[in-house]
Amino acid sequence: MTRTRMDIWTRTDDEGTWPEVLVAYARAVETMRALDPPTGPPTDPLSWQFQAAMHGRATETGSADRSHPLWSRCQHGSWFFLPWHRMYLAAFEAVVQHHLGDDQWSLPYWYALDPDRPTAAVLPPAFREARADNALFTDQRSVLANGGDPLPDVSDSVTQALGVDVFATDTGVASFGGGERSQPSFFGEEMGAIEDTPHGFVHVVVGNDFDDQGNTVREGWMGSFFTAGLDPLFWLHHANLDRLWQVWLDANPAHRNPPDDDPAWFRTRFRFPKPGGGTRTFRVGDVLDTTALGYTYESVGVPSTFLPAPAPVPPGPPGAPEAPAGGGIEMGGVEEAPPPRPMATPQVVGATQDVSLAQAAPAVVELSEPSDLGLGDGEAGAGPTRVYLRLEGITGTAAAPAYEVYVNVPAGDRGGEHPELLAGRLATFGLAEASRADSEHGGSGLTKVFEITAVRDALADRGRWDPSRVTVSFEPVLPVPSDTDALAQASTGMARAPDLRAARVVVLSA
Ligand code: C2O
Repeated sequence: MTRTRMDIWTRTDDEGTWPEVLVAYARAVETMRALDPPTGPPTDPLSWQFQAAMHGRATETGSADRSHPLWSRCQHGSWFFLPWHRMYLAAFEAVVQHHLGDDQWSLPYWYALDPDRPTAAVLPPAFREARADNALFTDQRSVLANGGDPLPDVSDSVTQALGVDVFATDTGVASFGGGERSQPSFFGEEMGAIEDTPHGFVHVVVGNDFDDQGNTVREGWMGSFFTAGLDPLFWLHHANLDRLWQVWLDANPAHRNPPDDDPAWFRTRFRFPKPGGGTRTFRVGDVLDTTALGYTYESVGVPSTFLPAPAPVPPGPPGAPEAPAGGGIEMGGVEEAPPPRPMATPQVVGATQDVSLAQAAPAVVELSEPSDLGLGDGEAGAGPTRVYLRLEGITGTAAAPAYEVYVNVPAGDRGGEHPELLAGRLATFGLAEASRADSEHGGSGLTKVFEITAVRDALADRGRWDPSRVTVSFEPVLPVPSDTDALAQASTGMARAPDLRAARVVVLSA
């Protein structure tokens, strides 16, 4: 029988009575914590700290602890992000079921940035009840999160991510699931749209405290790879990310996973401990259908804010009948999605090196081939050129939880006054980890890609698109908790100022 992972906010009533699924979860968390030794590294694979260590664990010097072969294995910054976390959750769910003796228990999800339900941006009450006997509470969270304030509303980034049309890419353009990589890696550098803002932003804002300048004043569990899995909320956040993968697939018939003949993705395997001893190995190809893993979600509806792009109508020979309305091609009564429009090979049309993202002045990218960024070259069916903005090699030790990235904001204005010029948001989860010289890629940082075709069109409509240059400005997203006294108390007294930089800011056309 297929189990259903429930939306935790639909299970929560006004009185704050805990839903049964959380009563059981708290019991399992307690059982798992009791399996951890009072000091020193965890030893039992079914214990709480061990499960978290599989995501990440820091050595004393702050690098990734791989002293156990199953530790520090989370996959970020590549097309392995979604499948690895799906496996991790499935294996964890089995461990919880084992401890509860209930094979029907299913992880609930927290849809923190629901464009249709701003009230869900608050932590569910069970996680906020500050009692010593509440296993779901931890003070290793931000004052804002534990205080019951809503997270800053960046839910339009969910809508934006659902509109990205490819799962993964190796050509440098924007993707939903991350950059294609031939090898698994702890940090693959190139984040997909879903990994960045909905995902990383929730991590940082739930975990860390910031002052009103965006300086980090305290760091909690959710803010770092090495501690995130210790927060019981982590698992509900990731159930939602896992759900959004299915929402994306359903949102547009042209959305699909990488082809199953691509062994670098399909056949890559990861290993997890299983109840009763030993490990269970999943191939990516084994986890593409959640019902085969035994679960579905209460809802996989697309937000009302999502307007799918009309599916492209393939050009037919003159006089050929029009393709049927509704976006699909009718084939023997089966609706088949049209193949995505083949994209021209992306070309770099401009780049600028070493940009500070924490400064007020915009970065300027001179465009070498301005003609490539026109609104269509008149060739039948070619359509307008698509434009992308790539921020490569983003590094730093401290940063605001996210930055809004704007294109061509008029001098003297703030980007916030020009929502049509918003390229998107860059969340800074994993920044410090990816910037360490002893990290997998030698501290080369994160990469984030935005499609800015719509921004280019908005500017062109107003006669303000400059074919010779693009300016890029960054504005921090600042979470301000209502309880400022609690924030002052929580503050460690060492405000760390943002030092975010990008090795290269690149404009691509395709
Ligand atoms: Cu592997 Cu949300 O992180």
